[in-house]
Amino acid sequence: NLLPGGSRPYPMNDKSPLQIFVRAKKKINDIYGEIEEYVCETTTFIDKIHDEAEIVDKEERDLFKSYVEKVAGIRTVLQRDHMKVAFFGRTSNGKSSVINAMLREKILPSGIGHTTNCFCQVEGSNGDEAYLMTEGSDEHINVVNIKQLANALCQEKLCESSLVRIFWPRERCSLLRDDVVFVDSPGVDVSANLDDWIDNHCLNADVFVLVLNAESTMTRAEKQFFHTVSQKLSKPNIFILNNRWDASANEPECQESELAKVKSQHTERCIDFLTKELKVSNEKEAAERVFFVSARETLQARIEEAKGNPPHMGAIAEGFQMRYFEFQDFERKFEECISQSAVKTKFQQHSSRGKSVAGDMRSMLDNIYERITIFRNHKMDQKNMLTERIQGTETQMLQVTREMKTKIHNMVEEVEEKVSKALNE
Ligand code: GTP
Ligand code: MG
Repeated sequence: NLLPGGSRPYPMNDKSPLQIFVRAKKKINDIYGEIEEYVCETTTFIDKIHDEAEIVDKEERDLFKSYVEKVAGIRTVLQRDHMKVAFFGRTSNGKSSVINAMLREKILPSGIGHTTNCFCQVEGSNGDEAYLMTEGSDEHINVVNIKQLANALCQEKLCESSLVRIFWPRERCSLLRDDVVFVDSPGVDVSANLDDWIDNHCLNADVFVLVLNAESTMTRAEKQFFHTVSQKLSKPNIFILNNRWDASANEPECQESELAKVKSQHTERCIDFLTKELKVSNEKEAAERVFFVSARETLQARIEEAKGNPPHMGAIAEGFQMRYFEFQDFERKFEECISQSAVKTKFQQHSSRGKSVAGDMRSMLDNIYERITIFRNHKMDQKNMLTERIQGTETQMLQVTREMKTKIHNMVEEVEEKVSKALNE
């Protein structure tokens, strides 16, 4: 059973380089939350002044509404953003086994012959149930065990470049919890549609892992695939794993010195491939990207560790410790690389878009403010004129009143005079 009831969640690792991405994601999401609040508040304000005075026209009002939609759109993308690693290599080199070793559980089917027949993406899900979804369908197909998963993948009669998404409880693995998404592929030697593969599954990958078979050399198909990748993407991050290194150590009559010779030969070829052929890294960087590992052994060691046993109980051959250490070293460098690269490619774009939205809004608001100031000054002028006019009228009235008063006074005097004169007479 893939989901034993009593399994403990994998412990949180705050020191993991993946936290660079996790923290950056939280921060940018918080900032966008604030931007959204600000945009909504401003839009309500703009609507209000549009209704009260004709300072803002319909076009401006609509533009503000479009910012609300834009910011909401970016927020949705941001919440979904993750780090993506894609694995490629010839059939049976151990791509699925490497992913299982990193996930610390046998999740993906692996085996001799052509096993993985379409793209499989493993990503974290929130509940405790594992399920899968095929392309173009919303149906959650429950996954109970590895055999069922393998059957589900075969029965679907999926096209090799289609994608099956496997959702695995994120609490079961720290990499899934920290938003790493794994993409497994069929062998590069079995497909003629490599261009489609790249367009459909690789353009947003942060890291590529080329899984080689340490017992043989890199094939033309493997090289060609990465040539096309590096033409379509500028400087892709590529790691090379020389897998099945345990098998070389197990080789009868293989002296240690011979093993060292093979290792340095492979190393040199891999470094040349990254530096001289693909031109994606310099010598120093390339030397940090080539590893000799055993995925099968690492997975077994981790399964033993989960049971509380020492890891070497999973050893297959002589020299386990070195290979196990090298796998861990690969994981560490991979984590550093993927989180830095994902922060740059995923968030840099969003932060510059956020800045441009904020800048546009600011200049529009400045503009509106200026118009409001002019409007207010105009109203003040009108008020002043009115006051002056009222004051003028008041003076006039006062004068008229005074004149009237004198006139009346004179009239009264005149009448009095006339009356007393008449009486006397
Ligand atoms: P496809 O899906 O068919 O392209 O193959 P794949 O690259 O995913 O290889 P897979 O992980 O299925 O491994 C193929 C076989 O090699 C399986 O039987 C694995 O157990 C075995 N294998 C994988 N890694 C190692 C390893 O490091 N050492 C040894 N000895 N065997 C390994
Ligand atoms: Mg496979």
